[in-house]
Amino acid sequence: MDERHSEARREFLKFLVASPYVAALGGAAVFLQQHGMAQSAQESTGVLATPADALSVLDFEETARKKVNPGHWAYMASGVDDDATLRANREVFKHIQLRPRRLHDPRKVDTTINLFGTSYASPIYLCPTGGEKSFNRDGELAVARAARARNTLQILSTASSTGVEEVNRELGRPAWYQVYAPNSWEANAALLKRVEAAGCPVIALTVDNITGRNSEFYLRTRPKDLSQCTTCHPSGPGSGPRPMTENLPRGGERVAVDWALVDNIRKTWKGKFFVKGIDTREDARLCVEHGLDGIMVSNHGGRATETIRSTVEALPEVVAEVRGRIPVYVDGGFRRGTDIFKALALGATAVGIGRPFLWGLGAFGQAGVDRVLEILQGELKLVMGNCGTQTLREITPAHVATPDWKT
Ligand SMILES: Cc1cc2nc3c(=O)[nH]c(=O)nc-3n(C[C@H](O)[C@H](O)[C@H](O)COP(=O)(O)O)c2cc1C
Repeated sequence: MDERHSEARREFLKFLVASPYVAALGGAAVFLQQHGMAQSAQESTGVLATPADALSVLDFEETARKKVNPGHWAYMASGVDDDATLRANREVFKHIQLRPRRLHDPRKVDTTINLFGTSYASPIYLCPTGGEKSFNRDGELAVARAARARNTLQILSTASSTGVEEVNRELGRPAWYQVYAPNSWEANAALLKRVEAAGCPVIALTVDNITGRNSEFYLRTRPKDLSQCTTCHPSGPGSGPRPMTENLPRGGERVAVDWALVDNIRKTWKGKFFVKGIDTREDARLCVEHGLDGIMVSNHGGRATETIRSTVEALPEVVAEVRGRIPVYVDGGFRRGTDIFKALALGATAVGIGRPFLWGLGAFGQAGVDRVLEILQGELKLVMGNCGTQTLREITPAHVATPDWKT
């Protein structure tokens, strides 16, 4: 079943499950049976019994939706404005075709990658996402355990619900660290000092979500009565335990998130330094000129600005501008091994996932994240073998046909 078909089927089943007409006939399972459409319990209710039942990472979405607090779910699932960028991140893959090369021994496929001296199982990494305890009580620690088991890069958010030291212990090595510039330079310096002491080798400054987000989907779909939220969020939704920022120095002059901030961090941070949220060749050039070690092409999973431009469309111009001088990573909308293969063909060094591992986390905790990684790593291996590529280096632009995205 192709993805469009299976997504359409999933949508149809969701519709059936919610339909009052079907409920009146004894529920979705009975209706499906009567109409010769009886499938697994998962297909009739959308809920997986075990992580192993998931055939694709998309299968986790409905299970997580049923288990996660509705307000937290709305926050995770949402985009901004009309959610068009969120959709664009997915839809772009339908317009990129694969050009498979044949007859290269598929037994030798190797998905491993070395990033700044550390070897990982695959180029798939776990994006920073804030407050992971809101999807499962073990939050970032469950993610770290799965990342460790699957030898996968984890990037921890400044807005995490667990401190970096604890995460690093579970991960068995220091995570990479995503930085949201705190209000003052003093607070920024204190945050970076803590991250350095924890041994994190790489930071990524997020620059695409600095003025807040207009998330209508979130506001429309979160519960109307928020009174129960005050237990965990005394100052309203969005507030809550933030172990990385709550003890930072207060006051001081407010810093702007601009290239001067990048320069200041560059001067003080001794490790590798990425910027996350670059989508144009002009900014890619500035990243190289300002001495950055890498770029993450990202639009925050369609959650920051309604650009209506997918990250995969932005990727080629960034890659062309950088000319291999620094690595270019990308995230946004990746749900299939073939999606990942396409980005690698367009010049990405590594590919991040956000919501898919949060679905796994919300559905089954560590075991769900583990299965999400297993599925994606397995799918990538399959497509590499069938496209005649034994190593990641062998994946080139010649393996894809794309529309003309010139700007
Ligand atoms: C619930 C949620 C929280 C996020 N929190 C952060 C964050 O704290 N810092 C950050 O740089 N990006 C954050 N992101 C964006 C992700 O790092 C990543 O860019 C995005 O999720 C990738 O798109 P995908 O979800 O379609 O895979 C968040 C995304 C989600 C869904």
